Amino acid sequence: MPRNPAIPANADPNYYDLGLCGPLRTDLSNKPETCGLFRTPSLRNVARRQVFFHNGVVNRLEDAVRFYATRDTQPGKWYPRSADGTTHKFDDLPPQYLGNVENSLPLEARWVLRPVLSESDVADLVAFLNTLTDGWAP
Ligand code: HEM
Repeated sequence: MPRNPAIPANADPNYYDLGLCGPLRTDLSNKPETCGLFRTPSLRNVARRQVFFHNGVVNRLEDAVRFYATRDTQPGKWYPRSADGTTHKFDDLPPQYLGNVENSLPLEARWVLRPVLSESDVADLVAFLNTLTDGWAP
């Protein structure tokens, strides 16, 4: 996920929430392959949430799904620009852990030039996710 500047600890450019490998959790700190990994949450009642993903950087369910579709095809929509004008992709992860980034579908963009999910697909997925809300009625 993109770094969330609204989190006070992120004012320190040397601070990173690396999920499983720390700094809050300490039992996996000697396992670099777990750095940047976060628990996959249940999607039950996800449509009721106001913040999404481990750092709450996304505020709309549509955008949470859109992120999957366009992280790799349009990274400039999500990540800030570096001083040299290029998009600073994965700006919340130290470079040595970039190999841990998830690339499976619908994220995988190495072989595709267009998002694998269209805006219509995103809308369909959001409609589906709404059915996971307790008490949902068709
Ligand atoms: C179209 C497919 C997918 C949809 C619609 C989807 C939807 C979502 C949503 C809405 C969230 C945010 C939940 C919350 O914050 O409460 C989420 C989080 C997450 N999803 Fe997915 N997901 C998809 C595919 C995948 C895949 C392929 C993986 C991994 C192989 C994955 C792993 C995760 C993980 C690890 C999180 C938590 C990330 C974090 O907290 O930073 N998802 N997903």
